[in-house]
Amino acid sequence: MNVSALAIEGLEAVDRGEFEDAVLSGLSRHPRAIPARFLYDERGSELFDQICELPEYYLTRTETGILEACAPEIAAIAGPGCALIEYGSGSSVKSRLLLDAMVDLSAYVPIDVSRRHLDATATALRRDYPDLEVRPVCADYMGLSELPGEVNGARRLGFFPGSTIGNLTPGESTAFLRRARTLLGERGALVLGVDLKKDPRRLHDAYNDSAGVTAQFSLNLLRRMNRELGADFDLAGFAHDAFYNAVEGRIEIYLRSLSPQVATVAGRRFSFSAGERIHTEWSYKFDSAGIEALADSAGFVIARTWTDPANLFAVTYLDAT
Ligand code: AVI
Repeated sequence: MNVSALAIEGLEAVDRGEFEDAVLSGLSRHPRAIPARFLYDERGSELFDQICELPEYYLTRTETGILEACAPEIAAIAGPGCALIEYGSGSSVKSRLLLDAMVDLSAYVPIDVSRRHLDATATALRRDYPDLEVRPVCADYMGLSELPGEVNGARRLGFFPGSTIGNLTPGESTAFLRRARTLLGERGALVLGVDLKKDPRRLHDAYNDSAGVTAQFSLNLLRRMNRELGADFDLAGFAHDAFYNAVEGRIEIYLRSLSPQVATVAGRRFSFSAGERIHTEWSYKFDSAGIEALADSAGFVIARTWTDPANLFAVTYLDAT
């Protein structure tokens, strides 16, 4: 989808149709799967914000700590006069660390599917950075192929934090990075946040928190289907099932049916056997060879990588040249 197609009013209505199509086709095939992006309705986004604060979920605070330390180096490598393009900006909390460090930024372009998030972010940033050109783009960054004209001429620095790349399959990651490389241009670069492979117990706990917030986040997908698609899922009849698959190097997350049951979605009936699962998320974890392969697959070259002292998370600067 391009910028103008997404910058239309009534995006929510388009979303609902997409959601219904994705759910009906995802529940009709085996193994069953619903794309992870549908986890982020309003409640899902609130729950994800809570996940980021959980003691077990080290990712957010570790990446923030790395960025606090390395933002001046990122700014020095990128040089003055860049345009900063953030993929999936949300509330742009981490990008402020770069905004504070970059010299003579020509523009900041937050990209997000949520118009409400974007408007709130743009208002707050224009207040806090009155001299900054803020040019929000309401779009799905996976398909974005053009940027506002204001960034033409400036060197483009992309920013994709949060290990969101880990939620893509390897094929999707490569496709996304290739597209980003084209969008950022020959002189461009991308700052990417990736979660690292580590003790499986630590990974397991990050997705099975003791307060049960991650379970609520998963189960909220059933709640969303009930509300938006007239489904009748019994939330108590499914469990959040998350584990580390060391062979694939990823956390796998499913909704597991606790008993034989039938649910109706948008007028169609789906039977679930006891133990049958609906896949909802992958969360890939990387080592340095994996980061290298990822960059390489899209023609990026690693200029620099920063990690925390415990080697939990990495922020890497990828040059398009
Ligand atoms: C957004 N993304 C990077 C999170 C992750 O860690 O893969 C999503 C998440 N799902 C459950 N907990 C966190």
